[in-house]
Amino acid sequence: MDKEAIFDIFYSYFGTNPEIIARAPGRVNLIGEHTDYNEGFVLPAAIGQSVLVAAGRNETGEYHFYAAEYDSSFSTRELKTAVAPRDWWANYPMGAISELKREGLDPGGINLVIGGSIPQGAGLSSSAALISAVLLALTELMNQGLSRPGMARLAQRAENNFVGTQCGIMDMFASLMGRHDHVLRLDCRSLEYTYSPFPGDEYRLVLFDSRVQHQLVSSEYNTRRKECETGVGILQKKYPEIRSLRDATPATVYEHADVMPDNIFRRCLFVTEENERVNAFCRALETGNTEMAGALMYQSHAGLQDLYEVCVEETSFLVDSMRGIAAGSRQMGGGFGGCTINLLKISTPDNEIERVKSAYFARFGLHMRVLPVKISDGAQILQIFNENVG
Ligand code: GLA
Repeated sequence: MDKEAIFDIFYSYFGTNPEIIARAPGRVNLIGEHTDYNEGFVLPAAIGQSVLVAAGRNETGEYHFYAAEYDSSFSTRELKTAVAPRDWWANYPMGAISELKREGLDPGGINLVIGGSIPQGAGLSSSAALISAVLLALTELMNQGLSRPGMARLAQRAENNFVGTQCGIMDMFASLMGRHDHVLRLDCRSLEYTYSPFPGDEYRLVLFDSRVQHQLVSSEYNTRRKECETGVGILQKKYPEIRSLRDATPATVYEHADVMPDNIFRRCLFVTEENERVNAFCRALETGNTEMAGALMYQSHAGLQDLYEVCVEETSFLVDSMRGIAAGSRQMGGGFGGCTINLLKISTPDNEIERVKSAYFARFGLHMRVLPVKISDGAQILQIFNENVG
């Protein structure tokens, strides 16, 4: 969908022009999984697949939303979590508005059309993109220049407090701060960030959507968070200065092997090693050693599988199938299915991918979806139609 299409939908749905159209992209994460909520490092990038929103204010004080992809509408006067399963998507714009209001920024009644091209359920953070697009559009409408990192914090709070997902800050930060052809190294404690060029003249990124997404993901995600906190509690007895796993190293974790329950030990070891891998990956990119960067992705997958235990047979099959073909491959995102991310030489022929696709179907009876991604700019205002705005 492009901005002309969403403009037309807005006009035919509400009978007026929108005041603003904004876009916010999904994200990939090259490395640094389950480190964001441990105040560690991540290396995401914004992608071309994006959410578009067209917004305008109304005089009624009500919220009217229309999700073009689902041909589904939702109206309310009150910002309360929607409970009907068919209205789940409305929680994201409501969460965004609710957090704005908490900051004392009340946009008043809003008409909103949502459209876009981020595949759902593949782990590309369509929800973070939707919240980010709404925040960007509405703060602009109110002429309130929030900083992008500040907006990312607000977006995270919308998910945590309103929608009730205990996610970290990576997804929204990447959606709001991504840069064309660059990966973004984010320190999830300080929110300091740097960009490194992606070697796009030689390599490309391709996602394999396993089409598996276990319901387990949110309960296990919260369990992992708790296990990490338990680990920090144990480490603090000897090292009170450790505030989160970000402050520990694999050596510190090994030192505590005898006093940690086995699952806690493995979770802590994974997170501390993964933080080191993010930094090693950046060094590898800086020195042009993309093969080394790829090897770190395979190591990350092994850790996700054996130490963090968030992989499924299907994604591990896809990663193993790419050994010797992709420079790097690993399961991406929260886990228990979703996509694998593959770092491929541009010269790698597509029939290698087709071969994996057939083998995957033969083994699991599932049609894996191939999603090529281009690293693109973060969220942006596409057009403003009200001369008093901006
Ligand atoms: C999900 C969350 C992110 C992050 C990843 C794991 O995608 O939304 O905040 O924790 O899982 O790295």
